[in-house]
Amino acid sequence: MGQLTTPLNTPSLKHNPLYPKQVLKRWVQPQPSEISSRPLDIRKQHVRIVHQERQTSLTEKLSVAVQGLAPFTRKVTAERQKLQENLPAVAQDIPCCKATEALLEDVRQQATDYMNLLGLGAVEMSLSLVHSTSCPRLHEDSVKVRCLCTYLGEGTLFVEDRHVDRQQLQLWLGQDTGGFKLRKNALVHQANPGDVLYLKGSAYPGNAGRGAVHRSPDGASVENPRLVLRLDPASSHPCDCC
Ligand SMILES: [Fe+2]
Repeated sequence: MGQLTTPLNTPSLKHNPLYPKQVLKRWVQPQPSEISSRPLDIRKQHVRIVHQERQTSLTEKLSVAVQGLAPFTRKVTAERQKLQENLPAVAQDIPCCKATEALLEDVRQQATDYMNLLGLGAVEMSLSLVHSTSCPRLHEDSVKVRCLCTYLGEGTLFVEDRHVDRQQLQLWLGQDTGGFKLRKNALVHQANPGDVLYLKGSAYPGNAGRGAVHRSPDGASVENPRLVLRLDPASSHPCDCC
């Protein structure tokens, strides 16, 4: 008593003519998202982007600390055991203050998490202050997994592969820019300041030609600089885009 049963003569949904084929197909086989908020998911085959949203008070403090500074990129490679020792060099272009100390502590934590996630013994950290759009084209990186964190300014733009037409390159002012073209009604995401992005690149095993597609945001300037951290495996020879 009380048990719900389906009458034997009820036609199954699969054969119900009221449901068009396309709708039924989507219902039966939903496409898993390529974007996750959990770092460990980057190991899953269908996940290409991890977007960790964070609330941070660093942005406001750092905007004062970098005021008037010329653009710079500072790269530091550190083995796991010497991370603490080598860390300060990555922020040597920023005057030492409480904001810089908080920044270094966050970079240390990000670098440690990144090495743990990928099982690395060393990491290349790159901190850049930019006054322009560093990588305006939609592209993939030729690395295994890249970590990006924009501390100040607009965050990186990223898009799921199903919204990208990799066969067609974007034309801009009649010239081939080399960037991928977005499909119609493509959904483009953007990280907020402080958010952490893991982007699976084309060098990740089994991901050749399917690296996470992303680009730098527009609008960086002298008045609105971006401060961006990039983490890569130390042994790779990554491109400088962010
Ligand atoms: Fe990139």
